[in-house]
Amino acid sequence: MTYIFANWKMYLSYQEVRELSIALSQEDFDEKKLKITVFPNTINFSDVARVFAGRSFAVGAQNVGWTPQGAYTGAVSALLFQQAGAKYALVGHSERRYIFNEDNEAVHKKMEACLVEGIIPVLCIGETAEDLKEQKREYRIKKQLSKALEGLNLKGKEIIVAYEPVWAISAGGKGTPCTPADADNVHGWIKNELKQYTKQNVPILYGGSVDSKNVLSYVEQGMIDGVLVGSASTKLDEFVKLVRRVESL
Ligand code: 13P
Repeated sequence: MTYIFANWKMYLSYQEVRELSIALSQEDFDEKKLKITVFPNTINFSDVARVFAGRSFAVGAQNVGWTPQGAYTGAVSALLFQQAGAKYALVGHSERRYIFNEDNEAVHKKMEACLVEGIIPVLCIGETAEDLKEQKREYRIKKQLSKALEGLNLKGKEIIVAYEPVWAISAGGKGTPCTPADADNVHGWIKNELKQYTKQNVPILYGGSVDSKNVLSYVEQGMIDGVLVGSASTKLDEFVKLVRRVESL
């Protein structure tokens, strides 16, 4: 089983999200081979969930609030997303951490909120270019994992981890993808590290400048269970090509 998760971020207009989801929902992908999930913005979320209902796609939240209900202006809780049909939620994406100052404590609370509400959290981790330069990659990732997971009751709960080196993410322009061998190596030790938190097998996805041309070089590696795609997932032809390539394996 290969995971292909599409993070549409805030790239598209309201109308473009509607059109892309309707066009994608007309494609049939092999559900025995692929788990495809789309993460639209919050405004389009319910609409996209309706478009994909009964199709071979799940929908997920790009971010969740950690309190279920109450006087929290501007927040949208994991509970609300669950009620609107979210199966997954991204938690701790680097754009939330570094642009919106989300700290490890907030990430932990969001993980907990997802588990309580029955949403599968996709914990996003990854080092910055500076961490890499200072040889702090392992330190950063282990810290992000421990802060997010320590103290959570993961028994019988599904979680996913996405390894997204911040320096590899394309922010509008072109990113520098992590080499598949390097990513595979990091995934290997993340898998090992996760054993202290849960007995379950945790799928680990790679994210950072994945496109239809390089996707196979990642998913063919032994430790990479799938991909979290940003920019390339927002263009219909490119994304369909990417998915078909993985499906052909
Ligand atoms: P890109 O595929 O645009 O580099 O984005 C990766 C990402 O951040 C997915 O969450």
